[in-house]
Formats: sequence, structure tokens, C-alpha cells
Amino acid sequence: MIELAFSILAADFAHLADEIARAERGGGTIVHVDVMDGHFVPNITFGPPVVKAIRPVTKLPLDCHLMIENPDEFIPAFAEAGADMVSVQVEACRNLNRTLQFIADHKMLAGVVLNPATPVEMVFEVLPMVHHVLVMSVNPGFGGQKFLPRSIERIDHLRRVRQEQGLNFRIEVDGGIAHDTVASVVHAGADMLVAGSAIFAPGKTEHNAREFLQIARGAASRPA
Ligand code: DX5
Ligand code: ZN
Repeated sequence: MIELAFSILAADFAHLADEIARAERGGGTIVHVDVMDGHFVPNITFGPPVVKAIRPVTKLPLDCHLMIENPDEFIPAFAEAGADMVSVQVEACRNLNRTLQFIADHKMLAGVVLNPATPVEMVFEVLPMVHHVLVMSVNPGFGGQKFLPRSIERIDHLRRVRQEQGLNFRIEVDGGIAHDTVASVVHAGADMLVAGSAIFAPGKTEHNAREFLQIARGAASRPA
């Protein structure tokens, strides 16, 4: 199933509820929340209070991408705030297996994230316990960056390993995913598509989301 996980990092923060509603009307089915702490990445965004504030305005699952140091310290707060999925950067976890189990113990779907320079093999041991693997296709920290093309072979690699091992984690991709790059990542095997700047634009959000999904689903139904 191909899904658009729209990143509210690119939304108008003064009107978050309206922005989410627009992207949802365009067919988006996951709210992607980019949590940044100014340490793991050179930017600061939002945390559990914002998750709590948007929880009542949508029924869509809230997918919290933690770009933070010491993610274990904050997992209970995200669960309490109403997060449905939490993904942690493999580079920020000393005991990745324990962190993923901790997320699951809090009744959330656990994901693991790979930065562009991190070998995909770093997550092989935990593939049976994750709901999704998030392949960063830019260096994390900011929206609106250029897609890194090597991400395609990284997604393909994960898809092959999934098949060989009979696993069923989903593959999410994040960074520079837009109308001109989405088909290539769908062909490689991604099915949770994060997009921010390609979706949110004054007066065009609903249209952008619909068109984006049309391209993505078109790619999924056609061989590369
Ligand atoms: C970057 C974030 C992304 C970002 C994507 O660190 O993880 O989710 O919002 O933005 P675009 O779609 O503009 O590349
Ligand atoms: Zn993200």
C-alpha cells in the first residue's frame, strides 16, 4: 500500500489543524512529525506538546521521527501525547534493540532510521522487530533539500533483504521526495513516502497531495 506521510515541518505552524486537514483531503494518510533537538541535528522543531495538540484534530496516525539524542528519555512522553509510530535514528542509539522494544512496550509502532552515510547493514539485526525502516534521502535537519540518488539502491537493498528473509517491515523514505523523484523510490520498494515542501503551499496543498499520490500509485502499478 502506497501512502503519503506528509511532513508538517513544511506547514504553516500558525494554522496546523487546517494544514493537516488540507493534506488529508488530498489523500495523505500519515502525519509525519519531525522532532529535532538542536544536538543530533542542527535545528530545533517540536516535541510532545505539539503532538498532544494535534492529536485531537485528526484521526490519522502520527508518525514521530525523532532526530534527537537519548531518544529513550522521551519515548514515554510521546506515547502519552498520542503518537502512533515512533522512529529512532540508529546513529543515536547505543542499545537499539532495547530502544525499539521500549517503543513497542509503549504500544507504538517502532521504526528505525538510517542517515545517508550509515550502511544499511547497521539495522539488519533488528529488522524482525520493526514496523518500518526509514531511509533518509537527505541529511536530516531541514526540509527542502535535494534528494540524494544513492538512496534508491539503499531502498532496493532493504527490499531484497526483506524478501530473502520473509520479513514484512515497511520501507519509508524521507527527504527531497517530490513529484519528480517519487516514482524512482516507489520502484525501488518504498511505500511510506514522506514529503513536506512538495505538498504544503498556500492554496495548493490539497492539489499537490493528490497529484503526488497519483504519480506514486501510477509508478507502483507499472514496472520500472
Ligand atoms: C528532514 C526531515 C524531513 C523533511 C522533509 O530532516 O526528516 O521529514 O520534513 O522535507 P522535504 O520533503 O521538504 O524534503
Ligand atoms: Zn522526517
